[in-house]
Amino acid sequence: MFWELDFDSSAWKLGPDFATEVNACRELAASLLSRPESGFARLPQKENLWTAIDLRAREVARTTTHMVVVGMGGSSLGGQALLSSCPRPAGRGQVSFLDNIDADYFWTWLRSRLDLGTTHWVIVSKSGNTIETLALADQIDQHLRASGHRRVSTNATVVSETQDNPLTHWARRESVPILEIPSDVGGRYSVLSAVGGLPAAYAGLKCDRLVAGAKWTLENLDLVATLAALGQVQAQRGDQMTMLWSYAEGLRRFGFWWQQLWAESLAKPLSPEFPYPATIPVPCVGACDQHSVLQQAMQGGRPLSAFFVRVAASEETATKLERSLFETQSFLVGKTLGELYATQAESTRLALQEQGVPTAVLRTKLLDERSMGALFMLWEMAIAVQGLRRGVNPFDQPGVERGKQMTLARLSGASPRDLQS
Ligand code: PA5
Repeated sequence: MFWELDFDSSAWKLGPDFATEVNACRELAASLLSRPESGFARLPQKENLWTAIDLRAREVARTTTHMVVVGMGGSSLGGQALLSSCPRPAGRGQVSFLDNIDADYFWTWLRSRLDLGTTHWVIVSKSGNTIETLALADQIDQHLRASGHRRVSTNATVVSETQDNPLTHWARRESVPILEIPSDVGGRYSVLSAVGGLPAAYAGLKCDRLVAGAKWTLENLDLVATLAALGQVQAQRGDQMTMLWSYAEGLRRFGFWWQQLWAESLAKPLSPEFPYPATIPVPCVGACDQHSVLQQAMQGGRPLSAFFVRVAASEETATKLERSLFETQSFLVGKTLGELYATQAESTRLALQEQGVPTAVLRTKLLDERSMGALFMLWEMAIAVQGLRRGVNPFDQPGVERGKQMTLARLSGASPRDLQS
């Protein structure tokens, strides 16, 4: 059992309809394994893909000390979440992610690098057409050449759909190896492919364990269905926010991945069969955000509900405090930091519940490849199921297109009339 879910039905005011919703979600979850557009659920079965990832990671690790992953949104956030959650073996190459085009940050970062000669560049874009990703690749290439290094293609891997697009076209022309994102896997659902797998394997994480965790979720569809059904209840209650309170430092970046998955998959024009707007996903990290957005949740006057994620290892440390420097904190003597953390997590949850915020808790023993593989697949399945139950497409993101079109029109000198179209 990698993850368990607890919640108090009375706090959620669940009636007999909840069991019906869970059953409907379960049926949809089972159907995801064979639906054409939900290839993410079949990624754990793709042995060839995992073998290719492992081989490439080993090959690259032989000659480099650093991997830089260049990509946006779903082509970056999952890898960041994975690498910051699992303990990495010592002595492996470093991994960095570039997912912004802040020119000041980028140039300061690039010009200060002393290891450009041993850096491997992973250019990730499912569409192969994302302006930020391609622009970063261009600037990196130009800098490498100008600073006496070999061009970027000599030490790069492309992760993309294999069909022809600007990125794969360049890769083929320059003989850059391509690792595939299968075309039935949506960008933000791609962490369990080379998108997350290549940087993870390079850093020494075990992809077979990641896959085992994901398979575990696929065998526990009751958990998926219950999580999805709670999401449905939140929207139907008229909640405006869904908070994800992670009580584990290693899940800080996971919160950003979850936020993107939720927002891009569920926030869509309403369908007649489910006329309730999607809640706004708000990732929080305990204890830090107890000193921040907790006030909003407690007294902000907006209906919301909260998922808590708790990790036993973060709450179980052996070192007891022998004496306190502060008289006012003498009650902590004899206790561990983990006990304080656990008490805070439970107290925050109860305080929210006292304010009418229903909560549910996902628990695991520790963060590693298996529990993370299971957690990624759990939220991917639960969010995809919610989208389908609502009659929206959880795999597209048409709302982000307009800004892209306007950027392209402005940069290419299109007329204001074109900007309206
Ligand atoms: O979920 C999605 O499809 C998006 O968030 C993409 O991941 C993001 O826009 C980057 O796209 P691409 O991978 O095509 O470069």
